[in-house]
Amino acid sequence: MVDTSDEWITKRTGIKERRIVDNGTATSDLAVEASLRALDDAKVLPSEVDLIVTSTITPDCLFPSTSCFIQEKIGAKKAGAFDILAACAGFIYALSIAKNFVISGTRDTVLVIGAECLSKVTDYTDRSTCILFGDGAGAAVVQKSNGKREIITTLLGADGSQADLLMLPAGGSRLPASHETVNSRSHYIKLKGKGLFKLAVNNMVDVILKSVKDNNISLEDIDMIIPHQSNIRIIEAAMEKLNMAKDKAYINIDRFGNTSSASIPIAIDEIDKNNLLRSGDTVLLVAFGGGLTWSSSIIKW
Ligand code: UT7
Repeated sequence: MVDTSDEWITKRTGIKERRIVDNGTATSDLAVEASLRALDDAKVLPSEVDLIVTSTITPDCLFPSTSCFIQEKIGAKKAGAFDILAACAGFIYALSIAKNFVISGTRDTVLVIGAECLSKVTDYTDRSTCILFGDGAGAAVVQKSNGKREIITTLLGADGSQADLLMLPAGGSRLPASHETVNSRSHYIKLKGKGLFKLAVNNMVDVILKSVKDNNISLEDIDMIIPHQSNIRIIEAAMEKLNMAKDKAYINIDRFGNTSSASIPIAIDEIDKNNLLRSGDTVLLVAFGGGLTWSSSIIKW
């Protein structure tokens, strides 16, 4: 479709495979599968869910929220439901919302979802973006700690002054859908990759250092870093700057590409299913993306 090569993509991004949904599948369809598996793992019934928070930049439609479609499809009849938009940093934003609802005692069981169909907003004539993005979903059930896994802390940040580095310009109230926006391909993701690359590395380093400092721990205390999967070179450069072993960062971008909100929960699920962590390990989630937005979370496994 475009002038590129497997060698360029592998070398510059680390991506070898991506998952792309068929025409009839929407974000809520992926989210429902992930949600039902997460609920099953947690031995929680859909009827017990009090709140659904979905992070997505590719909702089924502008409104109602994708969370409402998920609520109906899984039969979570008593759950409140809303979406949040913090791009690639969104899953940790959603996790933070869930944690605070549970801590405040206003909700007992929150279903947190990161789900995307990025293939639907990817311009397959633009080689600078069409080789990056994939589709996927992941979900987690957040409840009061039972002494096992615990979200210790979350850190959220944003810088709206650099919004133009990564955005989907058309289809909202600024640039409503029209023949002109279709002709100019403005309903697709626009990325200024080079500018974002450097910011992504420096931000990942700063956020990790701030997270450990705020929690009075050191980098040596972290057993695994689970970064948003945007580019293997970003992750490796940040690990090098931190003087941390590269294999402390979990990588699956080779098999999924960049799935925005879904990348961290997909990684957590793989780590869980493959028993890559031991009970009590300290894990640091970290993400950076459009907005600009960034987030991190320290989790006791
Ligand atoms: O998830 C949210 C956060 N996302 C990010 O932080 C993404 C950050 N950015 C990146 O990951 C990288 O910038 C990209 C993977 C998007 C691009 O990699 P790069 O090493 O920064 O490449 P570049 O944009 O500097 O382009 C280098 C060259 C250019 O050609 P010239 O001008 O040097 O002749 C591009 O036209 O590579 C060319 N190019 C390609 N060539 C083959 C760009 N895309 C492709 C392609 N295949 N797919």
